[in-house]
Amino acid sequence: MQDQAENLRQMVERLNTTAGVDKNTPVTTNCRVIAVTSGKGGVGKTNISVNFALAMASRGKKVLLFDADMGLANVDVMLGIIPQFNLAHVLNGQKTLAEIVIEGPNGIKLVASGSGGVRELADLNDEQRTKFLNALLALQNQSDLILIDTGAGLHRNVLAFALAAEEVVIVTTPEPTSLMDAYGMIKIIYREKKHPVINVIVNMASSQAEADEAGRKLTILARRFLNLEIDYLGFVPRDPSMIRAVKEQKPVVLSAPTSPAAVSIHRLAESLLLGKKPKERRQLDRLF
Ligand SMILES: Nc1ncnc2c1ncn2[C@@H]1O[C@H](COP(=O)(O)OP(=O)(O)OP(=O)(O)O)[C@@H](O)[C@H]1O
Ligand SMILES: [Mg+2]
Repeated sequence: MQDQAENLRQMVERLNTTAGVDKNTPVTTNCRVIAVTSGKGGVGKTNISVNFALAMASRGKKVLLFDADMGLANVDVMLGIIPQFNLAHVLNGQKTLAEIVIEGPNGIKLVASGSGGVRELADLNDEQRTKFLNALLALQNQSDLILIDTGAGLHRNVLAFALAAEEVVIVTTPEPTSLMDAYGMIKIIYREKKHPVINVIVNMASSQAEADEAGRKLTILARRFLNLEIDYLGFVPRDPSMIRAVKEQKPVVLSAPTSPAAVSIHRLAESLLLGKKPKERRQLDRLF
């Protein structure tokens, strides 16, 4: 784990230095860019991203949901949308990023990733990367919030997006394996960024006590070993409505708005919106 983490750290460093992005030029915008990520897979990132996007949009925010899980078209499936175009069309030059943005429920904007056969973003050449970055920057100007749903784990695409966003939401379950993987992710982000803003959500908790204990453990680990303060935002309970919503392809905040999961997602979205905003916005300044 240590070796793998170190290799990835070096790889991200190399990717960043070849990005052609001037790190000294801050990108000033009012748009918050938040990546939703995790160490372990299947912990609920996509569900939380989609429902966060809808919850924040219902509070009047202009939200863009960016599906960065290259290879698995999750966000559109959960919304029951079949997009005509996706990131694969942007990467092969058929469409611009702005052209593939579609509208979803509650007026959210969606960038779908496309499943299977999508070349890794990290494999883009300099020209493609610059084009992609500029298009993302343009999208920032049209949104209050960009939520990026990433894949899981220490894959370079996941890290590139987690590092590109200035704020990160780490999703974990209360299980020890998930917590340790979440800590691994926090450690890597911390090494790459001087002052990372890291929020943690415990998903699929069977009780508040279990969730709070998990949140407390992660907070203490980060404080003790990294000297880093992370924010435990709260939890989403394990809720059958969430499973039904996935099957019905209708997000839980729409299909079961009074369910425990939907209510907690609204509460978490609210605290994230009220949460601390970094003074100087340097978003997307470390993409690739
Ligand atoms: N709060 C919850 N209660 C019950 N089931 C849940 C909850 N959150 C997620 N799930 C279940 O977990 C499954 C995985 O969720 P999701 O696809 O959002 O995870 P993910 O972290 O995005 O996965 P991946 O790492 O593959 O991208 C869902 O299909 C759903 O059935
Ligand atoms: Mg997912």
